[in-house]
Amino acid sequence: RDELLFSYKGILYPTTVCSPETFKALESFEVRRNDVILAGYPKSGTNWLSQILTDLIAISQKKTPGSESSVNAEEEEEPYLEIGDAEKYERMTKLPSPRLMVTHLRPENLPKSIFQNKAKMLLLIRNPKDVATSYYHFSNGLALLPSYETWDDFFTDFMTKKMAWGCYLEYLSEWNKYADKENIMTITYEEVKENPALSVKNIATFFGIPLTEEQLQLVVERSSFQSMKKNSDKTHGSFGNIFFRKGGVSDWKNLFNEDQSKRMDKAFEEHIAGTKLGKKLKYDLYCK
Ligand code: A3P
Repeated sequence: RDELLFSYKGILYPTTVCSPETFKALESFEVRRNDVILAGYPKSGTNWLSQILTDLIAISQKKTPGSESSVNAEEEEEPYLEIGDAEKYERMTKLPSPRLMVTHLRPENLPKSIFQNKAKMLLLIRNPKDVATSYYHFSNGLALLPSYETWDDFFTDFMTKKMAWGCYLEYLSEWNKYADKENIMTITYEEVKENPALSVKNIATFFGIPLTEEQLQLVVERSSFQSMKKNSDKTHGSFGNIFFRKGGVSDWKNLFNEDQSKRMDKAFEEHIAGTKLGKKLKYDLYCK
């Protein structure tokens, strides 16, 4: 279990996909002003929103989402910024704009150029009980993370900062310090679920991408849970069922006992409840 994770600046990461060398190289990576950045803690729906952003970028380049011409395999680089080898940033300098980058990192561990160059960023957050639930199933589905014999063991680790990419509530309070910046748009998993068309429209407006009604419908259709799950053998190979599990809201009710629920309520209250991000999460609606 210890070999699967390593600690960097006090936060754990999976050894198989991250390395201190990559983190070091990332520090001086130059983000471009017109890069498209998606930030979200693991299991908050990053694959979903990155599908939406990929299609919006294709539209901004006058390509049809999903068509052959919209993907150029040679130009592809692992989109998760902190995942991969230390040379990836050098290769990325050759990629055309706009580049899509996804990250699970906290703001203080991102390259300074992101904030200096004011690249636009979508910050995705999800209610913490569903994040924990999704992360538990994911940890038991993928060999790269420690697996858990019981949900109770997982919950203890989730609440005591023993997760890859650190503690989610701390993640939220760190990002909350940036929530007022004009180059950052915050969106919740639950609001995209509730009204995907409006969410896609707002995201497109934020990134300055004009959309026809037809294009909007296409992006919404292609990013539905059913479409993405169906297509996952192409996008995620044999891991499709792990990345596209239930895709809903409130599955936490199947795992949390009353004590655990109260413990999360208390931690949420202490860390984040009164803040901008805390309010945006509509905790009472989704976590009670
Ligand atoms: P569940 O485990 O609750 O089903 P990430 O992409 O950050 O790893 O997040 C994964 C979570 O997002 C999973 O949650 C997954 O099912 C959900 N998800 C992925 N695609 C989705 C979509 N198109 N619509 C809704 N939820 C989606």
